[in-house]
Amino acid sequence: MNLKGVQLTWLGHATFRIVTPGGQTVIIDPWVMNNPMCPASEKKVKNVDVLLCTHGHGDHIGDAVEIIKQHNPQVVGIPELCGWLEKKGAKKIAMMNKGGTQKIGDIKVTMVHADHSCGIQDGDQIIYGGEACGYVVEFENGVKIYHAGDTNVFGDMAIIRDLYSPEIVMLPIGDHFTMGPREAAYACNLLKPKTVIPMHFGTFPVLTGSPGELQKLVPAVEIVAMKPGVTVSN
Ligand code: NI
Ligand code: MN
Repeated sequence: MNLKGVQLTWLGHATFRIVTPGGQTVIIDPWVMNNPMCPASEKKVKNVDVLLCTHGHGDHIGDAVEIIKQHNPQVVGIPELCGWLEKKGAKKIAMMNKGGTQKIGDIKVTMVHADHSCGIQDGDQIIYGGEACGYVVEFENGVKIYHAGDTNVFGDMAIIRDLYSPEIVMLPIGDHFTMGPREAAYACNLLKPKTVIPMHFGTFPVLTGSPGELQKLVPAVEIVAMKPGVTVSN
């Protein structure tokens, strides 16, 4: 993996904390204190400048409202999801939609498609949350990552490769609610990344896919099985 000083920490499931070379802290999919994969030492969020939300399911934005109350970060998401978070107290909304790119401090964020659903559980109701998405993030040092969110493989991943060429991609591999290793291997053929960071596996018993299974299917791709709470920066 070649992060050139971007500090990347997996907090388990689909949640990542990223510190940019300029010192800005980004959290993708804020499910932290209630995330069973998140190590105890990481459950308290010390600092966050930007939250990127892929969709409204609880295992992705389950702790967004609490984190927003504590740190008042900029909140990036699809309009319907941002509107709900605004009602819950978010003050700094940077809503966008698929195909759009915006600069937020040190990073350039592009919202891309994901093939998944997006209801928001609010008490005993399910609120329409827009659509699920993924993000391509370009850092000021030129490193580009793609966090696919929850998704099946889809043919337009080829467009993501052609337009943005992210060298590091986070793909869900757990199966059942997202693609499993077979579909993720196909996604590798479309995206042609240098490095894949598997996510969204092992959290619950039904999420059976493993990084080893994916590696067997795509021997030429670097599969980096991160450990929750361990930061990498090169
Ligand atoms: Ni989901
Ligand atoms: Mn999920």
